[in-house]
Amino acid sequence: MKVLVTGGLGYIGSHTCVALLEAGHTVVIVDNLSNSKIDTLNKVMQITKKNIPFYKVDVTDVLAVNSIFSKHDLDAVIHFAGFKAVGESVEKPIEYYHNNVVSTLIIAEACRKYNVHRFVFSSSATVYGDNKVPFVETMDLLPTTNPYGETKAINERILIDIAKANPAISLSILRYFNPAGAHKSGLIGESPVGIPNNIMPYISQVANGKLEKLRVFGNDYNTVDGTGVRDYIHVIDLAAGHVAALENLNEGIHIYNLGTGQGVSVLELVKAFEDANNIKIPIEIVERRPGDLASCYADVSKAKQELGWEAKYDIVAMCHDSWNFEKNRF
Ligand code: NAD
Ligand code: UD1
Repeated sequence: MKVLVTGGLGYIGSHTCVALLEAGHTVVIVDNLSNSKIDTLNKVMQITKKNIPFYKVDVTDVLAVNSIFSKHDLDAVIHFAGFKAVGESVEKPIEYYHNNVVSTLIIAEACRKYNVHRFVFSSSATVYGDNKVPFVETMDLLPTTNPYGETKAINERILIDIAKANPAISLSILRYFNPAGAHKSGLIGESPVGIPNNIMPYISQVANGKLEKLRVFGNDYNTVDGTGVRDYIHVIDLAAGHVAALENLNEGIHIYNLGTGQGVSVLELVKAFEDANNIKIPIEIVERRPGDLASCYADVSKAKQELGWEAKYDIVAMCHDSWNFEKNRF
């Protein structure tokens, strides 16, 4: 298939482009580089030894988006492009609603105009709110605590309404749990700007001495050791999940959790990182972070059953590969 990948130079998008190309598909990447670097394009081409058409375009620019659709005979779109920083979304709600929701409308409209019926959308486990774990796709969506989460829930509703109005559409909504790890080559991975919010890049920067210690947000949750439990998934598994979703996509609306189904606590993650890389990570227990859930992990049976996909890598592999990328980054 020929796939337009929006946000294809970002963390998950770049790994998915590699997986798509390795599975024999072709990709066209569009990214405005607001949270990525052009160098990633060279790295993806280096890994796959393929040439990739790239457009430095903002996907809220309707004319530029239509021009890309008119130049390529596309079979599918995977829409990753969007802003993703939860804290920033609270401070800049207009920018978040505009970028994340308008982009989806413009891509969906171009799909209608150019008869592209396969659409894969990046959603997030955040749409489950504080439902009871494990989260199952049939659960009602609960209000999220920030504009970023709202944009994911709104986009899901918009795309479902569009797919309901046109039975020829094949829509796959993928709800990611906590992506971690990097490509085995160490060439691509997650490179957050400034001090990371998410735990794995934070730990990696403690490991390389850029940050002094990990502050553990609360140890009084009702979990195995009192610290927050999450379902970390290797970005390589996540990328493979997109290929599986695309290759098994039929008409209608399909929603899948992409996680491992395993909950890992903050302290377990720190220990896994120390064991995998033989580096001590100093920690300090501090107050809970506002808005955090005690536990968040997936029921992954639907993706396994319908897509024949399941995660292969464990938390130790994620810690190893995250550090392998971080230490090669400078
Ligand atoms: P990322 O920031 O690394 O990648 C997003 C890419 O989209 C970046 O390269 C950025 O430059 C580009 N982009 C943003 N707005 C754009 C626009 N208007 N036009 C063109 N390009 C634009 O993020 P990621 O971690 O790879 O996440 C990809 C998607 O998955 C996002 O939609 C995100 O919300 C979602 N998601 C991410 C996580 C996570 O923890 N990483 C979890 C759940 C869902
Ligand atoms: C965050 C976002 C969520 C998004 C997800 C994946 C918030 C409130 N939620 O989720 O919307 O979908 O990222 O991108 O930001 N932790 C520490 N110390 C740190 C950082 C984190 O102890 O310095 C703990 C957290 O309390 C949590 C776990 O580590 O228990 C994971 O945190 P994080 O990586 O930020 O992801 P989420 O909170 O799951």
